[in-house]
Amino acid sequence: MKDAMQAFVLEGPPDAVSASVRTIDTALLPDEEVTIQVEYSSINYKDAMIAHGVGKMVRQFPHIPGVDLAGTVAADRSGRLQPGDKVIVTGYDLGVGRFGGYGEYARVPADWVVPLPDGLTAQEAMTLGTAGFTAMLSLQALERNGLRPDRGPVLVTGATGGVGSTAIDILARAGYQVAASSGKPDMKDYLMRLGASEILTREEVVDGSPKVVLAERWAGAIDNAGGATLEYLLRTTRTGGSVALTGLVHGHAFAATVYPFILRGVNLLGIDSVNCPMAPRLEAWRRLAGDLKPRHLAEIAHTIALGELPAKLKEILDGGARGRYVVKIAGA
Ligand SMILES: NC(=O)c1ccc[n+]([C@@H]2O[C@H](COP(=O)([O-])OP(=O)(O)OC[C@H]3O[C@@H](n4cnc5c(N)ncnc54)[C@H](OP(=O)(O)O)[C@@H]3O)[C@@H](O)[C@H]2O)c1
Repeated sequence: MKDAMQAFVLEGPPDAVSASVRTIDTALLPDEEVTIQVEYSSINYKDAMIAHGVGKMVRQFPHIPGVDLAGTVAADRSGRLQPGDKVIVTGYDLGVGRFGGYGEYARVPADWVVPLPDGLTAQEAMTLGTAGFTAMLSLQALERNGLRPDRGPVLVTGATGGVGSTAIDILARAGYQVAASSGKPDMKDYLMRLGASEILTREEVVDGSPKVVLAERWAGAIDNAGGATLEYLLRTTRTGGSVALTGLVHGHAFAATVYPFILRGVNLLGIDSVNCPMAPRLEAWRRLAGDLKPRHLAEIAHTIALGELPAKLKEILDGGARGRYVVKIAGA
């Protein structure tokens, strides 16, 4: 390993974070078991929040963000991995309390490491990243709670973003009728190509009326928005249906009554990709590489260099995400 590496580095304090691509000493990497030469990382909404100090999730500086990485094992003192093994790491404390994927090297506990499954390249794994993994966890949670393609349409909110794009592709591949809500009218053709058969505006998935339930419409939903969008979803989910809640781009607070739950048996399913245990984590990645590998990864992916991160992170924080931004690290 080199003594110094290129990385996207944040400096504090937590309420006035600044960022630059610069050289940083590899001796600053944490003292953990597995050293990984990073080939690709990606941008998730959480990275955009961290890079701008939103939520003050990072307290120690300098800090290298990036909650996802794919690369090659350079060394492993746990003995569980071999130099040269291709691996993925997403979630846990990567890029939050520990240095993340936006540097040429990362060092993590062996318990965080997922072998790159057959059927995925490192670039494809990062096109999926936390977003695709979360979409898969959402579908699995919905199906555990009774969702089947013949139950009716499934709505994906925040559709053009990372979780949204991959969720549409996976749902369509699994045989579901998919509806998508988006704030970007110019992205309708993209969403239809991914597999959506109906496109709604963001306004159409909010209802300001005081009615405790609305006409039954969705057999299931993957909700990246939260807030008033989630309020609408709970009131329009069909009897016995479920909402998989992943995100908060519309808001972290929502108002609800008990009626969707006690009159229609609606399920609200929380999705946590960060602390997902290893057995379901491996199973989700197996399906992402296999029977439910999204068909449109090449169209969803936009590959960028480290130097493009500042502009893209800002765009994403402002709700402008279109698909997934894959960050090429190796050779940076
Ligand atoms: N629970 C977990 O483990 C987990 C994992 C990954 C992500 N998340 C969360 O899930 C959400 C989506 O993540 P992501 O990586 O897909 O983000 P992203 O790529 O930035 O996409 C977010 C999308 O949300 C939509 N949006 C933005 N502002 C909005 C608003 N004010 N109201 C309604 N929709 C809005 C936009 O799509 P349109 O323009 O098409 O509407 C945007 O493209 C985030 O809140 C993220 O923190 C959670």
